[in-house]
Amino acid sequence: MRVIVTGGAGFIGSNLVLYLHRERPDWEILNLDALTYAGNLENLRSVESSDRYQFEQVDITDAESVRQVFQRFQPDAIMHLAAESHVDRSILEPMSFIRTNVLGTQILLNETKCLEKAVRFLHVSTDEVYGTLGATGYFTETTPYAPNSPYSASKAGSDFLVRAAFHTYGMDVVTTNCSNNYGPFQFPEKLIPLMISNALTDKPLPVYGDGMQVRDWLYVEDHCSAMLRVLEDGVAGETYNIGGNNERPNIEIVQAILDYLHKPDTLIRHVDDRPGHDRRYAIDASKIKRDLGWEPAWRFETALPATIDWYLDNQPWVGRVMSGVYRDYYQQQYGARLDG
Ligand code: NAD
Ligand code: DAU
Repeated sequence: MRVIVTGGAGFIGSNLVLYLHRERPDWEILNLDALTYAGNLENLRSVESSDRYQFEQVDITDAESVRQVFQRFQPDAIMHLAAESHVDRSILEPMSFIRTNVLGTQILLNETKCLEKAVRFLHVSTDEVYGTLGATGYFTETTPYAPNSPYSASKAGSDFLVRAAFHTYGMDVVTTNCSNNYGPFQFPEKLIPLMISNALTDKPLPVYGDGMQVRDWLYVEDHCSAMLRVLEDGVAGETYNIGGNNERPNIEIVQAILDYLHKPDTLIRHVDDRPGHDRRYAIDASKIKRDLGWEPAWRFETALPATIDWYLDNQPWVGRVMSGVYRDYYQQQYGARLDG
């Protein structure tokens, strides 16, 4: 099996590459990533010398380069994670989200269709496409799309392009819509790693609005096992919700981090709310459980401490990300090979 993972240097992508490398020892994995600010090859240090892993620095909106890699590697499957992923950035600067998430997805579909064999295309999307919930109810696979941020609107657009590829061209596509992930290698702009990093350095913890927005948190390794299950057993044209059955208000997460690190509540700062902030997400993941037998293996009560411990044990990683030095790693590791 030859698999291309797009966005394999990002948070979920690098966890996925490591997971596939470990769980599928006869698979060859090509990581195709543009290395934006969110891509960090240091995450993949443990596999970089493996003869079953290779990396290509390619922007998915560059059709010619995508074609060259696809034609050379001849994949059996694509796992598409490359995206602009941070909601706050999409509010400030939507265009790169449209470019990568919408245009880039269509380019990948085009080049997949050009391959001279049926190739399974797993499109990794988000629960945010469904919009926001009140105090009750859950997102199912048939909940109408109602995205509220430029990020979620761009992901919704990409989901529709994947749907169209199935209905129009009969492509072998499957889509997953997952809730909030946490775990190792998450860029410290997202809630959990930001709060851990700030708490460790006694900086204020910025909580948007009243902090009572609810997210359904899933440990990233569980997301990896779900993506693999859908890739291998999902039905073409179907979509699968993935969630942790683990709804928490933001303030509870922040409090749990402070408690674990023995830091005072006085570090919490309620700041202006995110514009258009979705109040509650909650996933009904009964379809993937019923049809594919997938359930999360991790409990929040053990996975959050494990995540905080990872950040404690990997302070140099956090420091290099915060200072921007992580961006030199590619040049150090691959520069000579590329130049040569
Ligand atoms: P991330 O921002 O950490 O990583 C994104 C990766 O994509 C980076 O390595 C970046 O370099 C790469 N990339 C960005 N633009 C690119 C381009 N034009 N060409 C090639 N590579 C490019 O994101 P993440 O949190 O790991 O999310 C991965 C995927 O999972 C995204 O599609 C996201 O929408 C989806 N998702 C994320 C979550 C979450 O909680 N983080 C939940 C559900 C779904
Ligand atoms: O639901 C899945 C989505 O989860 C993914 O599709 C996105 O790629 C991913 O970024 C994430 O989006 P969120 O906006 O939910 O994640 P974020 O970590 O940015 O914020 C989580 C919650 O915490 C949200 O309600 C906003 C709040 N927040 C966030 C930050 C960064 C704060 O209160 N303070 C902060 O500083």
